[in-house]
Amino acid sequence: MRWIIASAWPYINAVPHLGTLIQVLSSDVYARYRRKAGDEVVFVSGSDEHGTPIEIEAIKRGISPRELTDKMHEYVSGLFRKFGISYDNYTRTESPTHVEFVKEFYLKVYKNGHIFEKETEQLYCPNDKIFLPDRFVVGTCPYCGYEKAHGDQCDRCGRLLNPTDLINPRCAICGATPIIKRTKHWFFDLPKFSDQLKEYIEGNDQLPDNARSTSLAMINDGLKPRSLTRDNKWGIPAPFSGAKGKTIYVWMEAVLGYVSAVKEHFNQIEKPEEFEKFWKNKETKSVYFIGKDNIPFHTIIFPALLIASNEGYILPYNVASTEFLLYEGDKFSKSERRGIWMDEALVLLPADYWRFYMIYIRPEHKDSNFSWEDFEAKINDELNDTLGNLIHRVLSFISSKYGGEVPGTCLDGESKKMLEEAKELAKNIEDSLEDFKLRDSLRNFLEMARIGNRFFNSREPWKDIKENKKRTDSTVLASYNLLRAMTCYMHVFMPFSAEKLWNMMGLQKKPANFSEAFGIVKSIKIGKVKPLFHKVSKEELIKKLEDIRERKKILSSIE
Ligand code: MF3
Ligand code: ZN
Repeated sequence: MRWIIASAWPYINAVPHLGTLIQVLSSDVYARYRRKAGDEVVFVSGSDEHGTPIEIEAIKRGISPRELTDKMHEYVSGLFRKFGISYDNYTRTESPTHVEFVKEFYLKVYKNGHIFEKETEQLYCPNDKIFLPDRFVVGTCPYCGYEKAHGDQCDRCGRLLNPTDLINPRCAICGATPIIKRTKHWFFDLPKFSDQLKEYIEGNDQLPDNARSTSLAMINDGLKPRSLTRDNKWGIPAPFSGAKGKTIYVWMEAVLGYVSAVKEHFNQIEKPEEFEKFWKNKETKSVYFIGKDNIPFHTIIFPALLIASNEGYILPYNVASTEFLLYEGDKFSKSERRGIWMDEALVLLPADYWRFYMIYIRPEHKDSNFSWEDFEAKINDELNDTLGNLIHRVLSFISSKYGGEVPGTCLDGESKKMLEEAKELAKNIEDSLEDFKLRDSLRNFLEMARIGNRFFNSREPWKDIKENKKRTDSTVLASYNLLRAMTCYMHVFMPFSAEKLWNMMGLQKKPANFSEAFGIVKSIKIGKVKPLFHKVSKEELIKKLEDIRERKKILSSIE
């Protein structure tokens, strides 16, 4: 099986926070899972560099948008590496491959007759003297009455909007009432694709409920043409004749990055012919890990564009959307400094602690909440006690009682039974991953550790060793091989710790695929045993966080 796996491209005007990191981690866990299941995977994402917020951020800092995004792209790419994200290509929307791809793509869609130009009325702020980008108009949502809806989308009901749909519109910069001015724009004829989109969504069982219901509601309300161009300088120049000075609307080009990034990847590894094998082959599946606010762009706009190009691109197999992550019961907010940012997280604790906890609370069915109290509890009770202690007691026992060498014995009935049980759980881990239930799969992984702890406790090898060496040998051999199997699954969730564990266990040949996880290996000399995890104290962590911010040691603190 062939997979294109992607996470939403983060806007690069700021360092992403933990809420954004959830998508990235989820996609990484999924990509690692697919590779271990023996599938062919291309895993991509990139920095979303265009759009007004980035232009404004650059103006604020007195640099050009490109200078800003160069710096941020570098920095954030590095952070993803430090979090162990196994992208095959993490690129950017300023990449020449992307820019060229977008221009060609839209010329094709234009030729196919799905783009038209129209004089439009656009909101203009008489005070700031600019055409207001969609995001910079706020007003009341005509569908649900939410008073702080933005001109492109209502953040409460999720409907896509045009700025002129808003009731009582205001300029988001100065609060003045905008006036309507005429300008010319190019439009994508979205309503043409309503039936095909409806059929696609209804026929796509694995879409999460939130994605399915929002998308169907939108189609049933009636889709409207979407404007494609903007009067901005910063962006990809619109390739249509007569469109000088206009750029492509950021969302309409960023989604195409999923295609161009795969193309770029295969160009880079000098296998350009592979691109079509992935993107134009009905056997390939593509999956996108995103937050719920991005749903319509992935289930409506993106598929419609792919269809409109008539290039035979595959439609998304799944849009694995999650609900929101809150921080101590409230929204993340940069201006109010509420939340934790990626670079801060890494100063506080190694990446695997965050990888573990973020997947543990992944907001799959409802919003979930980051609280320091729960973080401390789960790291201490689950990561450290359940998992860490099992590893430590088994390996320390081998070290102290077996001179560091795993016995070359045979397994007794009870030991075999324990490993069988663990194998059942391993199957559950894989099945939950297959169903995009990442939380469940991590919990099943912890369950494996619990089985190991129960087994080790009930067999009491520390007593046995004097009276029944043979039974102890079996306990140790089974526990060691349970750990060996667990490293293979652990590598999906916590790759850094799994690598350390492999070394500590003296495994020359690592179980790289799930199919190799449950072999029995014997007579192995283990390495030096050190605890893999440690307990944390929320007071200390919070204090450290305040300290980092005060001393502005990292980029997200400086902004
Ligand atoms: N930058 C957008 C956000 O952070 C996501 C873009 S996803 C892509 O909300 F499809 F456009 F790449
Ligand atoms: Zn609304």
